[in-house]
Amino acid sequence: MDSFIIKGGTPLRGDVTISGSKNAVLPIMAATLLTGETCTLRRVPNLSDVAFMVRILESLGAEVAWSGDVVTVRAARIKGFGDYDLIRKMRGSICILGPLLGRRRAASVSLPGGCVIGTRPIDLHLKGLTALGTRIQIEGGYIHARARKLTGNTIFLGGRAGPTVLGTANILMAAVLADGVTIIESAACEPEVVDLCQFLVAMGAKISGIGSPTLTVTGVPELHGADHEVIPDRIEACTFLCAAAATKGDVTLHGTRPEHFAAVLDKLREAGVRIERKGTTLRVTRPGRLKPADVTTQPYAGFPTDVQAQFMALMALAPGISVITERIFESRFMHVAELMRLGADIAIEGPNAIVKGGRPMSGAPVMASDLRASAALVIAGLAARGTTQVHRIYHLDRGYERMEDKLRQLGARIERAAGE
Ligand code: EPU
Repeated sequence: MDSFIIKGGTPLRGDVTISGSKNAVLPIMAATLLTGETCTLRRVPNLSDVAFMVRILESLGAEVAWSGDVVTVRAARIKGFGDYDLIRKMRGSICILGPLLGRRRAASVSLPGGCVIGTRPIDLHLKGLTALGTRIQIEGGYIHARARKLTGNTIFLGGRAGPTVLGTANILMAAVLADGVTIIESAACEPEVVDLCQFLVAMGAKISGIGSPTLTVTGVPELHGADHEVIPDRIEACTFLCAAAATKGDVTLHGTRPEHFAAVLDKLREAGVRIERKGTTLRVTRPGRLKPADVTTQPYAGFPTDVQAQFMALMALAPGISVITERIFESRFMHVAELMRLGADIAIEGPNAIVKGGRPMSGAPVMASDLRASAALVIAGLAARGTTQVHRIYHLDRGYERMEDKLRQLGARIERAAGE
């Protein structure tokens, strides 16, 4: 397994272009299954999760071509079940359930297990699909879903931790080809859901209330091909902002949609980071010392859980106490122990991490446990004195396009070491 070797202490300087969004492109790729016509997706990031989704679509019978950042899919004839092993490996693949039901009225996918950030239930996905007329059977670790016909209904999709992003995507993708009107209450409002809605509308779907917690879908008999450019990855942008601030650098991000991460910009400013916006370009600098800031993760438009770990790495450098509260995933603090190996002083009390920032950080071998935890360790390693080795960076390859190249372009001393 590959690792990163980072020699810390160099301020990041220069320009970086943000790639297309991982969490937008995965459900959009699944949505291409809703038509037999060709769909063209642009600004597709080169990630291992995208490569997985390509293989899943192919295993369902779709023809997929991927060249540079453009993916074309033609799902002329598809099956209701794909390669179980592939599907099992990527949690995001649960979002093929909605489109397969929409198009074929039948789907079998493996039940996604828990993961290090929490139990990750799918009860809301199943509740929504059942309300549309699907019969669900869980057997041997698989979800078998069948519907004679899908009929519109009113579905409340709010859960214990708020709305569900992929749950909303799944219900939307089943509802666009259902008979009648579906109203999704407490729908997720994340920009990735909006991007999916826009792709579906480009395919001929009828959806109103896009971006709001109430989505109204009027089913149509069929959809057609579409050409779509994926939104920029707001989590990648926020990761680079935190890295630039942590190293007291001067970095300009290109191709961003800052309105998608206003909550993070607000907290960075509170922490003493200067951010200047010109259209889709953001320049980040840090004129003085970092200040502590408290953060609570929330559904959109609140502070995203996917930036919690990276922001915690930054707050470990800010003299004073910051309280970071995780409200979306119950065990998303796996990075804490590893940040402590670098010298951070952090105590966990229930959903709160109490960060006593400003302790000197020095390099150490650390272990990445999930995608965003890995990003936090890279940020900490870039700011720490000495050498940090981040093991198991296959997690990073799932969600960050060419991360080490982009960081090296900004002057970071980072190398990939091939592992056994
Ligand atoms: N939940 C339920 N029941 C369900 C579904 C979700 O209780 O049926 C709960 C979850 O346990 C969690 C909360 O609802 O407490 C929100 O989970 P959500 O369903 O929104 O998460 P997701 O759709 O599975 C996506 C992203 C995650 C991101 C979350 C929250 C993709 C592929 N994944 O997951 O991204 O953290 O939304 O914004 O889009 C990442 O990129 O690192 C990542 C984990």
